[in-house]
Amino acid sequence: MAIMIVEDSVLNMKIVSEVLHDEYPQYQIIQCPNPLLAEKLLQENDIWVMLLDIEMPELNGIDLLEQVRQQYSDKELQIIMLTAMTDADVFQKCFDLGANDYLGKPFKKVELVCRINQAIRSIQGQQQMEELLEGTKKHNKELRQMNIELQMTQSALIHSEKMAAIGQLAAGVAHEINNPIGYVSSNLESLRSYLRKMNTYMDQCKKVQQSLLKSEIESYHALALELEESYQTNKIDFIQEDIPVLMTDTMEGVQRVAKIVQTMRNFTRSSDQEEKKWVSLNNLIKQSMMILENESKYVADVLFKEREEIEIFCNELQIGQVLVNIINNAVQAIRSQENGERGCITICLARSGQEANLLISDDGPGIPKDIISKIFNPFFTTKAVGDGTGLGLSITYDIIVNKHGGRIEAHSQEGRGAIFDIVLPINQQESEETL
Ligand SMILES: Nc1ncnc2c1ncn2[C@@H]1O[C@H](COP(=O)(O)OP(=O)(O)OP(=O)(O)O)[C@@H](O)[C@H]1O
Ligand SMILES: [Mg+2]
Repeated sequence: MAIMIVEDSVLNMKIVSEVLHDEYPQYQIIQCPNPLLAEKLLQENDIWVMLLDIEMPELNGIDLLEQVRQQYSDKELQIIMLTAMTDADVFQKCFDLGANDYLGKPFKKVELVCRINQAIRSIQGQQQMEELLEGTKKHNKELRQMNIELQMTQSALIHSEKMAAIGQLAAGVAHEINNPIGYVSSNLESLRSYLRKMNTYMDQCKKVQQSLLKSEIESYHALALELEESYQTNKIDFIQEDIPVLMTDTMEGVQRVAKIVQTMRNFTRSSDQEEKKWVSLNNLIKQSMMILENESKYVADVLFKEREEIEIFCNELQIGQVLVNIINNAVQAIRSQENGERGCITICLARSGQEANLLISDDGPGIPKDIISKIFNPFFTTKAVGDGTGLGLSITYDIIVNKHGGRIEAHSQEGRGAIFDIVLPINQQESEETL
C-alpha cells in the first residue's frame, strides 16, 4: 500500500513527505514531482491515496485528475486535491471530476492526517463491502446449487415412492396371477399330450370308417357314410391341423405372462444383504457382453474401455441384470433404425474416489426429449406389444438406486444416441454404516 504526492514545489514536497513518513510508517510514500509520470507510478505501485497539486507547469492537476479517474474508481484510489487555489469554481470542478477531498494550502498537519485517514477508511470500507458482496454472491450460488440438489432429491424420492407403491401393487398382482398361471400352464401340457392320443385314436377311426365304406353289409355302409358326412361337416381334418397351432400359441402366451410375473416378483423382492459380495465389475461387464453376443453380433460393435480393475460390494446377479438391460436396450435401439448400418456401443469404467463410474453409450436413434423423463417408469415402453414389457429400466433404477445406493441418469440427443451414466458406491456396506 502506498500514498503518492504529486507536487512540483520542492519545498511543499519535502514538508508533506516528512509528515507522511512520520504518520504512516507502514505505507510506502511515493514522491512524484512531475505530473507526467503520475500514471506510470500508479500502474507500478499499489497506491491507495493520491495527494494532487493543481498548478503545475507540465500538466495541470485538474487534467491529471480527469485522466486518472477514467481508469481508477473510488474504491481503488482516493484523490485529495492539495492546492493554494481556493476559487469556488475550481473547488466545484474538482469534485465534479471525481476528487474525494480538497485541502487548501497552507494546511495544518492534523488536517492533512485526518483527511488521509478518512480516505484510507473509505477504501477499506469499500473493499470490505466488496468482500461481503462476493461472500453473499458465493452463498447465493451455493444456495441455488443446494436448491437444485434438493429438487433432484425430491424427484428421486417421489420416484422411489411411486416405485414402492407400484412394487406393492405388482407383488399383489404377481402373487394372484402366479397360481392360475401355474395350473393353466400344466393343464396345457396335459391337454397337449391328451390331444396327441386323441389324434391317434381319430386316425384309427378314420381307417375303420374307410373299411366300413367298402363293406357289403348295408347298415355298415350307411354308418360309414354318416361318419364321413359328420367328418366333413365338422371339418375334423381342419380341427386336427389347427389345434396344435392354437396350443403352441397359447403355450407361448402363457409363458410370456409367466415371465412377466416372474420379473415382477424379482422386482419386488427385497434386496438381501447376504447376497452381496465383492465382485469384479470388469468381469461382470465382459460376462454381460458375452450373454448378449448373439443379439449384438450382427447389429453393433460392443467396446469395453477398461482402464483399471474395479471391484465393488454388490449383488452380482442384480448388477449383471442392469448391464444386460442397458446393453440390450442399446442393441434394440440401434437395430430399430433399420438402416443396415452397424452401430457402436461403448462401455467405459473408471474409479472416482469411493465410487465406480460406468458410462454406457450407443450411437442409435437416441431418446426423444418428451419421453426421457418417463423411461425409468415401470411399464413404459415404446416397443411394439410383445417386444418389450417396459420393466427393464425401472428394475435397473430400483437395483442401482434403492438396492445399491447409487445413481443413474440418462442423457440423449435425438438422432445422436443415448448415454446411461451410472455411479455405484465401491463399498455400499461402509457407506450405509456412515449414513
Ligand atoms: N439406448 C436407448 N436408445 C433409445 N431408447 C431407449 C434406450 N434405452 C431405453 N430406451 C427407451 O426406453 C424405453 C424403456 O426401456 P425399458 O428397458 O424400461 O423397457 P423396454 O426395453 O421397452 O422393455 P423390456 O426391457 O421390458 O423388454 C424403451 O422402450 C425405449 O423407448
Ligand atoms: Mg429394455
